[in-house]
Amino acid sequence: MELWVAIMERRAVRQFSQAAISKEDLRTLIGAAIWAPSAMNRQPWRFAVVTDPLVLQAIETKSKARILKSDPQGIRNPEIHKLLSDPEYHLLHGAPVLIAIGAPEREKWCIEDSAMAAQNLMLKATEFGLGTCWIGLVQDWLNTPEGLAVLRFPPSIKVVAPIIVGEPAGQIAGGSRKEPNIVWIVSEGSHFQEGHDAPKMEQPHTLFGELIHP
Ligand SMILES: Cc1cc2nc3c(=O)[nH]c(=O)nc-3n(C[C@H](O)[C@H](O)[C@H](O)COP(=O)(O)O)c2cc1C
Repeated sequence: MELWVAIMERRAVRQFSQAAISKEDLRTLIGAAIWAPSAMNRQPWRFAVVTDPLVLQAIETKSKARILKSDPQGIRNPEIHKLLSDPEYHLLHGAPVLIAIGAPEREKWCIEDSAMAAQNLMLKATEFGLGTCWIGLVQDWLNTPEGLAVLRFPPSIKVVAPIIVGEPAGQIAGGSRKEPNIVWIVSEGSHFQEGHDAPKMEQPHTLFGELIHP
């Protein structure tokens, strides 16, 4: 699959068939994940693959309860709270697999490394016709001692990217993006900003700045 096609076709998938995903395919996804860059090539990531429906359900239930009780992620959004209070709302969207990617918290770039691995995994899944979605709402509970124990991760691990995987069912939203906000820092202290939230016009700092604006 062309890279651009994979980038554009990878969308958050929130409806899945119950078809099992083979261990071989899951290994291939993780095989793609580990070719992500990592700081000093330390490859600190670890993967927990959960396919047990009872464990998936427990992760949802515990995560929901935790958020509703203490709002630890600071989601002061009544809509999200309403959603989470609905017993019919499934945080893992009925996906048959959850791959949790984490790394030792003492690694300075554990978050960056894990997130890079997650993106590789999601792009590879797209190539396979599989749907994925990062489920941030289960992150906090997975990082509790109980959550880490469920994933069989040692307490030193920080779970960064819980990614659901499955065969998509139903419509996949097309996605949308804002114009990127870019500041171009060119030369002689001159800069120029474009995209959303960009100020209308930046004054050049130097006499010659305006000559070199893109
Ligand atoms: C850090 C992070 C946390 C996310 N958490 C959730 C989540 O808890 N539940 C969910 O349904 N989608 C979640 N998403 C998916 C985003 O909502 C989705 O990527 C975004 O709306 C853009 O859509 P797209 O992935 O189709 O381009 C998360 C994505 C990221 C990167």
